[in-house]
Amino acid sequence: MNQFIVDTKNLNFSYNRTKKDIENLELKVPKGSIYGFLGPNGSGKSTTIRLMLGLLKKRSGTVVLFGEIFNSKSRLKILDRVGALIENPSLYDHLTAVENLRIAANYRQNISFSRIDEVLEIVNLKHANNKKIKEYSLGMKQRLGLAISLLSNPELIILDEPTNGLDPKGIIEMRTLIKDLNKKYGTTIFISSHLLSEIERTCTHVGIIRDGKMLYQDTVASLKESKGTNIKFDIEVDKSIEALSVLKNLKMKNASLLDNFVQIEVKNKEEITEVIDVLRAKKINIYQVTIKNNLEELFLSLTEN
Ligand SMILES: Nc1ncnc2c1ncn2[C@@H]1O[C@H](COP(=O)(O)OP(=O)(O)OP(=O)(O)O)[C@@H](O)[C@H]1O
Ligand SMILES: [Mg+2]
Repeated sequence: MNQFIVDTKNLNFSYNRTKKDIENLELKVPKGSIYGFLGPNGSGKSTTIRLMLGLLKKRSGTVVLFGEIFNSKSRLKILDRVGALIENPSLYDHLTAVENLRIAANYRQNISFSRIDEVLEIVNLKHANNKKIKEYSLGMKQRLGLAISLLSNPELIILDEPTNGLDPKGIIEMRTLIKDLNKKYGTTIFISSHLLSEIERTCTHVGIIRDGKMLYQDTVASLKESKGTNIKFDIEVDKSIEALSVLKNLKMKNASLLDNFVQIEVKNKEEITEVIDVLRAKKINIYQVTIKNNLEELFLSLTEN
């Protein structure tokens, strides 16, 4: 049995004849994962999501969801098992959260009134269930949108940039919510973002896309261990010139200076300790050591030409 909840093969799509917007895309989303779909603006994330949901007609290739080929026959049956939040949720401003959920529930089959309470509880909006949407913040609206997508108890949730426009508190709330859903109910979550830091914090798996092509697809842990990327870090010291010459004597050729910081590149974490030991042995004071996010550099090198 195929354990991929989403499995696309050779997916191709163009909005018009001038260019390919999605090219031979092979998405593999494992069951129970939080899959981060990462790429810069215009790389094809929303287009891929629309193709997965059958909102655009693919040019060639197959989309398999829950082991079943997505086509006009299987579409409704498959979509019954999927919850999606794409772009801003369409909500009735003059109605309350409960009223909005009732309307949404009416469009779906077999949803009990108690489920409305449950989803409000899950997204932490019980306290505001009778507030009108026009009094909701953007973060609350996003969470209500998520609540609507949860009504039918989906096995897969697809979220297109759910933290876009949210403030730091809203981002943390959304992130916690996504992780809880995955942990408590085993829901597979597919989430797109143009921010590596977001994906790194939330996801178990990652797919990186640029110009409609998949550049990298694996676990987030493997991405972090990716070979060929040295660890770069900065050390703030009191005697920077002396520190630099000590490190150059250690054959650390790529050490350089920036104000009171010595910038160094090493192969592994153990070498960071060695550098600190050597500097301390020379009575050089160390005030801080900052490791640079080399994942960010890796992402940029993958997505920039
Ligand atoms: N309706 C459309 N008609 C024509 N071209 C489109 C349409 N929508 C998107 N495109 C083009 O398709 C490509 C992929 O766009 P898409 O919206 O899928 O990117 P994205 O990764 O979701 O970007 P963002 O991070 O900005 O949301 C871009 O080159 C875009 O200009
Ligand atoms: Mg988009």
